[in-house]
Amino acid sequence: AGKPRAFSGIQPTGGIHLGNYLGAIRNWVLQQDQYDNIFSIVDLHAMTIPYDPRELRQRTLEVGSVLLAAGIDPERSILFVQSDVREHTELCWILGTLATFGELRRMTQFKEKSKGNERVGAGLFFYPVLQAADILLYDAAVVPVGEDQKQHIELTRDLAIRFNNTFGETFVVPEPDIKPAGARIMSLTDPLKKMSKSDPDPDSRIELRDPPEVIRRKIRKAVTDSETVIRYDEERKPAISNLLTIYSLLSGIPIPELEERYAGKGYGQFKQDLAEVIIQALAPIQQRLEELVAQPGIVIRTLQEGAAKARELASAKMALVRERCGL
Ligand code: ADP
Ligand code: NA
Repeated sequence: AGKPRAFSGIQPTGGIHLGNYLGAIRNWVLQQDQYDNIFSIVDLHAMTIPYDPRELRQRTLEVGSVLLAAGIDPERSILFVQSDVREHTELCWILGTLATFGELRRMTQFKEKSKGNERVGAGLFFYPVLQAADILLYDAAVVPVGEDQKQHIELTRDLAIRFNNTFGETFVVPEPDIKPAGARIMSLTDPLKKMSKSDPDPDSRIELRDPPEVIRRKIRKAVTDSETVIRYDEERKPAISNLLTIYSLLSGIPIPELEERYAGKGYGQFKQDLAEVIIQALAPIQQRLEELVAQPGIVIRTLQEGAAKARELASAKMALVRERCGL
């Protein structure tokens, strides 16, 4: 108590990758003492693109295992699966009656994810409203996210303010907490796109579960540029800059020091070292993950206990919301 409440969500859509880790999960783990944390595996969000039910269930468990292996501590933080707490969908509907078609249509993620699709699900369109419900349900003051979520948090704030103005003070208006370093890890195959679980090219990302050989191959294959100079320049050298960011965040070595260390050396040596830095950084997580995967009962129980705690908070909040809006 006394610490600001933070809400963080992650979709069980695919293997957790370095972008998720450096932009989000790593910070979540480090901030467990600073915030009163609620972490949710947002399976309802994962339904907004075509998926396989069996795979979704399996990935939900897998993401839970990865979060625990990465250091989320269920003694200090609430960790639960979104669909275990029905209040999320109920509040989503209520907030949806306040959101406008125009503002949802402007969401960049919706535009990107629907581009080129013949069939665009209404769920994909409504996604940011559900995200707003996730956050507002718990009176979260802070939302630690990567850069890609900035616009959605802005919408969450607008909806909270709109509800408060219409029905009386009910929701905390949250702030995004975007760490500049690692906030936007780019794809290894196209440094102008962010690294994402939904990218069809698996070589575009390093997954937390990738074995050393796969990591070495993906880094070797990662696009660079026609020069050979290792220099940080997001504009002109986005690929090398992205690799430098990953190297620096995982090793703790500042980027200028890395530039100096690799002055006069080619991309080959740099990439070889980077692969080893990644392998070493992921090794302890992978080892804990192996232990958890062997005991799924522990993960399932932890998620159930987390859901019970989340449900208690959510149902109290929904009682107030229902009263405020005349239900
Ligand atoms: P994805 O886009 O890979 O499906 P999610 O939407 O589940 O990822 O996001 C989980 C968390 O990871 C969010 O806080 C998001 O901001 C962060 N994140 C996702 N991709 C990146 C990236 N390429 N760089 C930094 N952070 C990212
Ligand atoms: Na995302």
